[in-house]
Amino acid sequence: MKRVLVTGGAGFISSGVVRYLLAETPYDVVTLDALTYAGTLENLADVMSHPRLSFVHGDIRDADLVHELVEGVDVIVNAAAESHVEKSIRDGASEFVTTNVEGTQILLDAIRATPVERFVLVSSSEVYGTARYAPMDEEHPIEPRSPYAATKAGADRLAYSYFVTYDLPIVIVRPFNNYGPRQHPEKLVPRFITQALLDESLTIHGDGHASRDWLYVEDDAEAIRAVIEAPVDDVAGEVLNIATGIDISVSEIADLVLSVLDMPADQRVHVDERPGQVDRHIGSTEKAERLLGWRARTSFEDGLERTVSWYRDNEAWWRGILAKDVRAFSS
Ligand SMILES: NC(=O)c1ccc[n+]([C@@H]2O[C@H](COP(=O)([O-])OP(=O)(O)OC[C@H]3O[C@@H](n4cnc5c(N)ncnc54)[C@H](O)[C@@H]3O)[C@@H](O)[C@H]2O)c1
Repeated sequence: MKRVLVTGGAGFISSGVVRYLLAETPYDVVTLDALTYAGTLENLADVMSHPRLSFVHGDIRDADLVHELVEGVDVIVNAAAESHVEKSIRDGASEFVTTNVEGTQILLDAIRATPVERFVLVSSSEVYGTARYAPMDEEHPIEPRSPYAATKAGADRLAYSYFVTYDLPIVIVRPFNNYGPRQHPEKLVPRFITQALLDESLTIHGDGHASRDWLYVEDDAEAIRAVIEAPVDDVAGEVLNIATGIDISVSEIADLVLSVLDMPADQRVHVDERPGQVDRHIGSTEKAERLLGWRARTSFEDGLERTVSWYRDNEAWWRGILAKDVRAFSS
């Protein structure tokens, strides 16, 4: 039976992938996470004692540990990353370069030494920059606009080079903007939801016209499973968007959050535009449909309702994170 190493399992997307693989497949799952400010074991609390899950507390930049773990697995999904665009602008790119690029390089060198059946690199739609045309397909130029996006582009192309140079079974996925339960409140959708639940105004960068292709996190997990299970010759060396093909602006999201929570439509405040902002993102879904037979299933309205309910029911989770962040800023 397959043994899958998912990195970053205490974070938002990977905890969803771990949960999904345990529920929907017979695979053993190992997850490696450094438990940075973005990761918490609470994200795995409901599956932590699952007999097919092992959690390893460690860093993807620790070559010895990574080599040891890779020896025992068949498939790797590398999703551990520094993932926050604004943090990469505000606090500098150093951790982003070492975790996102060097961490990926260490994993790639580990599979050179100990080949695996498949290596899935979780890249990002942010590598494309602002859409030159819509929808963006996988041939869209790579024009990262923030330090975060540049490090994702570096890892993405590094992984591709290991496919070309060493003929390793590497697949690169570029998910568009995920949202759903357990996402850190620094990110847009949970920030709006938690601001609304606190009865604060929703903060919108610029005029709110910037739009994104919003993907419900469980749909992303389903796509990653499809990448693990597709015939290897169909997907090795390929780049695949994971998208819905629909874009929604930041203002529209604010409208929807306020409406789901029955709050006044004008409970919002506009702040300065973020530097490195991407204007429009919308992904072509054609290649993932053709190669994986996968298509996102959750409408934004349904996904948002489910996400709002989760944040309503798990107030201690996000209040704990907000309290820690306040402490971090004041120290
Ligand atoms: N959130 C999105 O909308 C989105 C969209 C496209 C791609 N992605 C990519 O998906 C992946 C997961 O994103 P997310 O939003 O779940 O991120 P997240 O910040 O919620 O989680 C990242 C996890 O990685 C762990 N981590 C960080 N550095 C590490 C290191 N050096 N070694 C081991 N673990 C480490 C953290 O502790 C955390 O648990 C990332 O690669 C991100 O770039 C995210």
